[in-house]
Parts: sequence; structure tokens; C-alpha cells
Amino acid sequence: MTTRILLRSGSPADTLEIGRLLGEVLSDGDVIALTGDLGAGKTLFCKGIASGLGIDPAFVASPTFTIVSEYADGRLPFHHIDAWRLATLDEAISAGLEDIIGVGGVSAVEWPENVSKLLPNRCLRVTFQHSGTEGRILSFELPNIPGFHPFFENCKRYLTGG
Ligand SMILES: Nc1ncnc2c1ncn2[C@@H]1O[C@H](COP(=O)(O)OP(=O)(O)OP(=O)(O)O)[C@@H](O)[C@H]1O
Ligand SMILES: [Mg+2]
Repeated sequence: MTTRILLRSGSPADTLEIGRLLGEVLSDGDVIALTGDLGAGKTLFCKGIASGLGIDPAFVASPTFTIVSEYADGRLPFHHIDAWRLATLDEAISAGLEDIIGVGGVSAVEWPENVSKLLPNRCLRVTFQHSGTEGRILSFELPNIPGFHPFFENCKRYLTGG
């Protein structure tokens, strides 16, 4: 069963922290699809995920030009993918994504709509919406399995109540 929760981030620091809390509960093979406009906070959230996986977030930069960045020094390998520039499935396959997404470690995908055919059915989803200058509403669709319960518990202070 999928659990849907809405969290409110009031600042870049909040988005980083919510990402970190999610990163702490991720396990091998998890794929996170991050949807939202330019500047919504997807890359910042990925820095948080990295931090929760034990990777120094200072090293995590947007892979807009490289498509994929891989970090091997955390609790699990972390693949950070930005599909913004991929127009076709062939381009995504040429970039090697078929052999990366969901195959090992954790994959976080920005602009997942551009690589939808490569995403597994069991994909975690986070959608970002602007809410004022520094406000963001983060909508999560996560499996309601025990592994995620610490995340549901730890992020309670960000619940929108809606
Ligand atoms: N609450 C917030 N959460 C996240 N980012 C915020 C927030 N408030 C302001 N910002 C700013 O918004 C920008 C978000 O940039 P980021 O690169 O994470 O967006 P993105 O969704 O990855 O964009 P792109 O689609 O271009 O890759 C940063 O400059 C950040 O400081
Ligand atoms: Mg980005």
C-alpha cells in the first residue's frame, strides 16, 4: 500500500533536512522520482538524500550536463540523475540509464517524466510545488512498509496538516 504525505518546507535548510531523513531509511534498489519545476528544490533534496546515506552533501552537484553522478562512499551507492536534457528513450539508454536505475544502490531521478519507461513500478515519488519565495510543498508517495516508518515519524514536524 502507498502512503501519501504532504510536507511543508519553509527554507532550503528544511528541504535539505527532509531529504536527509528520507536518505536515512532508503535501501538497496530504491528509485526516487523527483518532479517539479525549475528551481523547485529537487537538487537540494538530493543533497539531503546523499547526506542521509552518509555522503558529504558538499560534493553533490547538479548533474544537468553529465546526466548522472555516482557517489560510492556512502552506506549504499547513490546515483543522482538529471534527465532534463534527455529527449528520447534512445538518448536515455545511450546515457547508460537502463543499467543504473534501480539496478543497485539508490537512484534519484530529476525530470523522471523524460525517462518514464525506465522507471520501475515500485518507484518512490516526490513532487515539489512552490509556495511563496522560500516555501515548498513536498508531496510523497511511499510504500507503507516498516522501513519507512522512521521517516513518517521523524518528518512529523513538517506536516502541512492538509
Ligand atoms: N524551501 C526551499 N526548498 C528548496 N529550495 C529552495 C527553498 N527556498 C528557496 N530555495 C532555492 O531554490 C533553489 C532550488 O534549486 P535546485 O537546484 O534544488 O532546484 P531544482 O528543482 O533541482 O531545479 P532544476 O529543475 O533546474 O534542476 C535554490 O537556489 C534554493 O536556495
Ligand atoms: Mg536540479
